[in-house]
Amino acid sequence: MSSERPGAKRSVRVLWLEGDGVGPEVAREAERVLRRCVAHAGAELALDRGLIGGAAIDAQGMPLDDATLEAARASDAVFKGPVGGPRWDHLRGAQRCEAGLLRLRQGLGVYANLRPTQVVPALTECSPLRPEILGAGVDLLIVRELCGGIYFGQPRGRSDDRALDTMVYTTAEIERLARVGFETARARRRRVTSVDKANVLESSRLWRDVVTEVARDYPDVTLEHQLVDSCAMLLITRPASFDVVITENLFGDILSDEAGVLAGSLGMLPSASLGEPGRPGLYEPVHGAAPDIAGQDLANPLASILSVGLLLRYSLGMAIEAAAVESAVAEVLASGTRTADIARDGRPVAGTTAMGDQVCRALDARLEA
Ligand code: IPM
Ligand code: MG
Repeated sequence: MSSERPGAKRSVRVLWLEGDGVGPEVAREAERVLRRCVAHAGAELALDRGLIGGAAIDAQGMPLDDATLEAARASDAVFKGPVGGPRWDHLRGAQRCEAGLLRLRQGLGVYANLRPTQVVPALTECSPLRPEILGAGVDLLIVRELCGGIYFGQPRGRSDDRALDTMVYTTAEIERLARVGFETARARRRRVTSVDKANVLESSRLWRDVVTEVARDYPDVTLEHQLVDSCAMLLITRPASFDVVITENLFGDILSDEAGVLAGSLGMLPSASLGEPGRPGLYEPVHGAAPDIAGQDLANPLASILSVGLLLRYSLGMAIEAAAVESAVAEVLASGTRTADIARDGRPVAGTTAMGDQVCRALDARLEA
């Protein structure tokens, strides 16, 4: 297999933010995967380490400092572990761990958050849904708007007996997100479901109008509109019918956790957040910091490992290595290796490191072939 390919960069710079709680453990396994793949592609890896979330509050007094944001902007890609924990829960406003994450997303301009959910046949037993609902093929991609909406809208604030958030969207913000959705659908099953609350919200009415307009440029893609409440129901009752789901920030946050139920565990779900072409992407597992199991070698590293797969594909142009990561994970799951979150009662459970070992072994076999 040749390692000299157009599109693969010779030297790549990745900012590595391991985060809090189980972050360091799962990031360690993801880093092993990244190093192998970059080397296989014939590139040199410059991996810079930085702090975000609680670790950054403790060391730097804020959840994301300017120098780290600058380093992120100067990278080819950023990997970020989960943030937060009870130690920092009393903090408010810009001091909160989550504020660091939102600053990073907005500072990078990564407006399209891709959250794929696939049901691995070996894991249907982990889902509370009946096997016939999961069927042979749940394979959906939520494309969530990430830099706008109620997460960032002004005015917002709180006085004695009143609090206010603002859900606001511009045509331009909706259009660029919709285009990502339609473009990705073209490489998949050519179906887009646009999710809104147009029966109540003005911002959703604009959303629906703009998406309908953008769809005219994609006559080969089927578009349907769905209200978010009914979409939440259909995701559970007929998940196999979805291909690409495009939606605004808050709806996407909620629906993507729901989609995690389909995959058996949030510990399986990776994500990629992309902005303008050529700008660094942000890659993070969808799950949280899980402080209750941190440091015990219990966490599932697969969401982080699969996030590295997306990083290789979308930011480094290393599609062969990305595919190798995905098929290595599939092989390890098919062989029955399970972390606690995806293990059935009484079956042996692999720790974080052991799961990483298995993936690296399967990956090495693929990369050497
Ligand atoms: C997510 C998380 C974040 C979000 C939190 C931690 C701010 O829930 O990535 O889904 O709401 O976007
Ligand atoms: Mg969330």
